[in-house]
Amino acid sequence: MNRRVVVLKNVSKSYPLYHQMMGIKNFLFNLPKGIRSMKNSRIEVLKDISFEIEKGESLGIIGKNGAGKSTILGLIAGVLKPTKGTVFVEGRVSPLLELGAGFHPDLTGRENILLNGILMGYSKAEILKKMDNIIAFTEIREFIDQPVRVYSSGMLARLGFSVVANLDPEILLIDEVLAVGDMDFQKKCIDKMEEFKRNGVTIVFVSHSMDNVKRICDRVIWIEDHSIKMNNDVNTVISNYTRMR
Ligand SMILES: Nc1ncnc2c1ncn2[C@@H]1O[C@H](COP(=O)(O)OP(=O)(O)OP(=O)(O)O)[C@@H](O)[C@H]1O
Ligand SMILES: [Mg+2]
Repeated sequence: MNRRVVVLKNVSKSYPLYHQMMGIKNFLFNLPKGIRSMKNSRIEVLKDISFEIEKGESLGIIGKNGAGKSTILGLIAGVLKPTKGTVFVEGRVSPLLELGAGFHPDLTGRENILLNGILMGYSKAEILKKMDNIIAFTEIREFIDQPVRVYSSGMLARLGFSVVANLDPEILLIDEVLAVGDMDFQKKCIDKMEEFKRNGVTIVFVSHSMDNVKRICDRVIWIEDHSIKMNNDVNTVISNYTRMR
């Protein structure tokens, strides 16, 4: 058995449920009760999740909208903390979370590349050395010195993927962002992920494209009702998942 690089043990994540305040008017007129209900009601978005990922594995996470997939990636990336349970991660995590997450809208593409690289733990010199490769991979050189608030969705996805893909990831987390890229770019990203897989990079891939999951992943976790419904080899999980739709 290979070394385990990600271990989630009995992880739960919940958020306060604000909309249970019975409407603002009621809330104001019943202030103590309203505050009590606000404090007490929480929505559990992950319930007692446990799984492990070995070094070099490619794990897919699938499930319907709101199931908790991005929350799991956020926990592995360390941007979210579990309400209960423990998350262990060994190695440098390169996260490409939801579209535009981690980008500052007023900074240019080039500045955001630097900012993201530094947040991932690289030195400024390391990033500058790779800057040309990153920009070339985006294929949006003419926009690279524009603030990213003027970027289209596909251009943001290009920028995000190019950063994580060109800075030697150890654990690559990809949330469903490729879908907004055009066909050429999607192919380029999937090819790059296959190359990482061959080179032993650990990959966690969240996607609604079962074709892409089949190409990249060995094993898949299906999240349903905020818990793990299935954790098995890619073909077994996808055939069950598609049969249930
Ligand atoms: N900051 C937050 N506060 C309250 N609820 C949240 C917060 N972030 C996420 N949620 C809720 O957690 C649940 C899981 O969200 P998550 O983004 O992980 O789903 P997902 O599986 O990635 O869905 P999708 O396929 O739509 O991307 C949702 O019900 C969502 O509303
Ligand atoms: Mg999501």
